[in-house]
Amino acid sequence: MKLWGGRFKEGTNTLVNDFNSSIRIDERMYKEDILGSIAHVKMLKKQGIIPEDSCNKIEAGLNDLLKRLENDVIDIDETSEDIHSFIEGLLTYYIGPCGKMLHTGRSRNDQVTLDLKLYLKGYVPLLIKDIIELLKVIYNKASENIDTIMPGYTHMQKAQPITFSHHILAYGEMFKRDVSRINDYLVRLDEMPLGSGALATSTYPIDREFVAKELGFSKITLNSLDSVSDRDYVIELLSTLSIIMMHLSRFSEEVILWCTNEFNFVELSDEYSTGSSIMPQKKNPDVAELVRGKTGRVYGDLVTLLALMKGLPLAYNKDMQEDKEALFDALDTVKLSLKTFTGMIDTMKINKEVMKEGASKGFTNATDLADYLVKKGMPFREAHGIVGETVLYCIKEHKGISDLTLSELKNFSPIFETDVYETIDLLTCVSGRKVLGGPAKESIELQLKYLGSFIKENELNY
Ligand code: ARG
Repeated sequence: MKLWGGRFKEGTNTLVNDFNSSIRIDERMYKEDILGSIAHVKMLKKQGIIPEDSCNKIEAGLNDLLKRLENDVIDIDETSEDIHSFIEGLLTYYIGPCGKMLHTGRSRNDQVTLDLKLYLKGYVPLLIKDIIELLKVIYNKASENIDTIMPGYTHMQKAQPITFSHHILAYGEMFKRDVSRINDYLVRLDEMPLGSGALATSTYPIDREFVAKELGFSKITLNSLDSVSDRDYVIELLSTLSIIMMHLSRFSEEVILWCTNEFNFVELSDEYSTGSSIMPQKKNPDVAELVRGKTGRVYGDLVTLLALMKGLPLAYNKDMQEDKEALFDALDTVKLSLKTFTGMIDTMKINKEVMKEGASKGFTNATDLADYLVKKGMPFREAHGIVGETVLYCIKEHKGISDLTLSELKNFSPIFETDVYETIDLLTCVSGRKVLGGPAKESIELQLKYLGSFIKENELNY
């Protein structure tokens, strides 16, 4: 059913009908559309705007429609203009002419943004749940690898020894920030737009606070022009989703590197790997690669919205109908990526010995050698120079620093004594970095404790 047509003499071109229609995208908001209409009609009844018996009929009809749609008794008609026209048309079909009273005092412009906000109020907390599941896996892997020494990198060059626990807890911090960003977002999302009408509210004595309360919003929007033309909440969510994907793609990139024959730091489970149609030996990290790839897609969705809204005059413009396709694509992509990625990390085997072996090469203890000299009174810049020369010598001799004899070391500085070997042992290098944030056991246990309580707090909220 068309919601308009009175002022038209001729029908719409079928191509235009199809072009104009958004139902294939917005049909997923059918429940929110009905719940919004139920709250609206209850308000119309309370305020005496339309007769009580009509309101009761409409409310019962809407509840009925919801049941039928949820039980797949009715299919959504994909030739309708949008989900709003479809529901209103169907209601009138089932309950008769009084269904035509439902749209009193509202417009599709405030209705569509209400539906979307309601949909996001339901969907977004589930994303937090998915991130929390990933954080739990990170927590477990970190707990199991407090003593797993690995090389830490800068510029993709070996830098200093750390532990796998330390490394993976860095991702823990990123995903904690993602959860807190979503929590902040949910506060701003919580403003109810219905009653803004097409752009300038209405002359009926509507009660917007009542509708907000019915639908679980804590506030109402303050300016009707802004209410119907605001899509900041879509852009803000897409930014948050893009940052989540950025974190996942950095993690993915590391997993891809770690599974190479050159690194061999981890092995993915068979369940989360794929093979090659031609090369029988292959075990490919497709999940990590796809997450990395899908990150570009979610960034694209963000840019779609930014470009869409740029320069749009107030208030509603049809351009804005394009918002949901990009948003839903990003939501679905992030959800699927998070779930699959979590399973991949959970079942990933850590090659502890290979990681340790990796840390023992590439002079990761060179800073500690310099610090040894500093602790015996030498200025750091001087110590840096001496250790640089020592490393150059090691490269020439194909040796590690710990392989040098004391007399070889003394050629670089007479300060070196036998206690230097203890200092540059990888275990000492790691355990000496007790500063909060560092890789030593004490610090990691504290980081784990904070992560544990973060998980508990946020699990309770949803
Ligand atoms: N399908 C529209 C959208 O998603 C709903 C609002 C349409 N309003 C209008 N006046 N054409 O944006």
